[in-house]
Amino acid sequence: MCGIVGYIGQRNAQDVLISGLAKLEYRGYDSAGVAVCTDNGIQVRKKAGKLANLSTELEGTPLTGTLGIGHTRWATHGLPNDTNAHPHATEDGRLVIIHNGIIENYLQLKEALMSRGHTFLSETDSEVLAHLIEEKYAQLSGNLYEAVRQALGDVRGAYGIVVTHVDHREIVAARTVSPLVMGVGEGEMFLASDVPALLAYTRNMVFLHDGDMVVLNDDGYRVTDLQGNAVQRQVERIDWDAEAAEKGGYDTYMLKEIYEQPVALTNTLIGRLHDETGEVNLDINLNPASFKRISIIACGTAYYAGLVGEYLIEQLARVPVEVDVASEYRYRSPLVSEDTLAIVVSQSGETIDTLEALREAKKFGAKTLGVINAKGSSMTRELDDTLYIHAGPEIGVASTKAYTSMVSAFMLLALWLGRARGTLGEDLGRELLHATRELPRLVEEALAPERVEKIKQIAEKYSGARDYLFLGRGVNAPTAFEGALKLKEISYIHAEAYAAGEMKHGPIALIDEHLPVVVVATESFLLEKTISNVQEVRARSGKVIAILSDGDTENARHADDVIYVPHAHEMVSPIVNAVAMQLLAYHTATALGKDVDKPRNLAKSVTVE
Ligand code: F6R
Repeated sequence: MCGIVGYIGQRNAQDVLISGLAKLEYRGYDSAGVAVCTDNGIQVRKKAGKLANLSTELEGTPLTGTLGIGHTRWATHGLPNDTNAHPHATEDGRLVIIHNGIIENYLQLKEALMSRGHTFLSETDSEVLAHLIEEKYAQLSGNLYEAVRQALGDVRGAYGIVVTHVDHREIVAARTVSPLVMGVGEGEMFLASDVPALLAYTRNMVFLHDGDMVVLNDDGYRVTDLQGNAVQRQVERIDWDAEAAEKGGYDTYMLKEIYEQPVALTNTLIGRLHDETGEVNLDINLNPASFKRISIIACGTAYYAGLVGEYLIEQLARVPVEVDVASEYRYRSPLVSEDTLAIVVSQSGETIDTLEALREAKKFGAKTLGVINAKGSSMTRELDDTLYIHAGPEIGVASTKAYTSMVSAFMLLALWLGRARGTLGEDLGRELLHATRELPRLVEEALAPERVEKIKQIAEKYSGARDYLFLGRGVNAPTAFEGALKLKEISYIHAEAYAAGEMKHGPIALIDEHLPVVVVATESFLLEKTISNVQEVRARSGKVIAILSDGDTENARHADDVIYVPHAHEMVSPIVNAVAMQLLAYHTATALGKDVDKPRNLAKSVTVE
């Protein structure tokens, strides 16, 4: 995350930057900073904490100029302090950059730059960009665009980057993965991470694509690709009101967040998987040999992510894992010792049941690790270590992108532990590393319009059902649980979920011709067994909605309706399959006219017991 704003025109840049950043604070508020080109060169002001801290400072000593860049930070590398705040300037103060994203190879770049005499002030990955561009700029005799372009050629990772230099009345920007939108005004140009930051100034916007670069000056703008070829991008007129703008043009936050999953997953994974070495780098201090058992503790959707985590960790790292609903864990006198690693999972980091369970585990000497989305939340302040999922803010009450990011964080953890404890074979390790890397692309594919349309039709067909049953096996049993929870909470249709093999032990009595049964039946070593359960449903006239891997026409014969999903390695398939579940729930709820962002009786962050 992080929010960025850039401005060139006739207005007071500081005002534009501060008002834009105020609309982007949802993207992070660890620190804020601006750089403005003034008569005395580029002046930088930056402050840890919320934007208000920076605004107060600027009120005392305002910056005057009509070109500037600004940033609000969600810290990844380095503490949230003044030094690590953006913008980052070169030592001579002549060039400044702001960056949103993660530079995966920053350590190698930093070492090389230091060996060539560069001095670093911050602990951030972003600062390497300033030095790298400075070096290219000197080699290219002052061509700023070309210096940025060539520097980005050396960089691996995600970036929305905005750069300016004291000798040029221009701003150069580029994006890969991280978002960037350009506002086109009358004799003025803007940049931002998101539309709401610019709506007060212009409604004419250009949504930059992955791999786009742009140069803004007083005459307008020019877009190229990273090879330097000119690219045409359409100016779009944005008619959204402020609320619609915050939803990125989607009808609801939930739908926006469903579609954000490829980017959210990229952010969870970025910088953590290394193809060349097969290594996983989680940037946590936990000693992987310091515990004998793991307790995963969470509530709701986070609990289901924990169930997938249990499966992955036990398979790959061969450590015994138990998973608890937090509200139960606290009161069942759990057997906790110094040999226990307690992993709490939470989007908000504030859920009181989970927080109290964490305190309970700590009381008995457990080591603690969090799989958390919200930076600086209460849990993160009490945990020994936090593995942030970096999914970005989740506003829709029903969790979507946080779930898939939590599950992929568990995959990273299982790979890391498996390698460290010597339980994960080299070949399987590489296969899973590759499968995990593929996730953003697979989820993007799972969101293809024709697939969504098919799910919508199925959702509408069964939207009159009174009850639903969800089934899945192995690593996809939790996918069934999560599918049922999503449907219940936003459509208010009663839904049950079972491990498919358990159906015959009771729930089978529910099956009749009115009951839609969603079965996760994607590629698996257990697929034949799942299909036997499908037959049991069919034999009792239940309506089977099968989630199958692309091309599985053989098993499609046993289903009334089929949702095809892209092929994925079984161990990462819960992430791809969850997308189908989310869309089924979403389109059922909207077919029934429900308010999916604010389902009745629910709250986003549950801070009561
Ligand atoms: C369901 C949902 C809830 C949360 C649960 C825990 O869609 O969002 O079940 O998962 O309340 O919340 P966090 O993850 O914030 O601890």
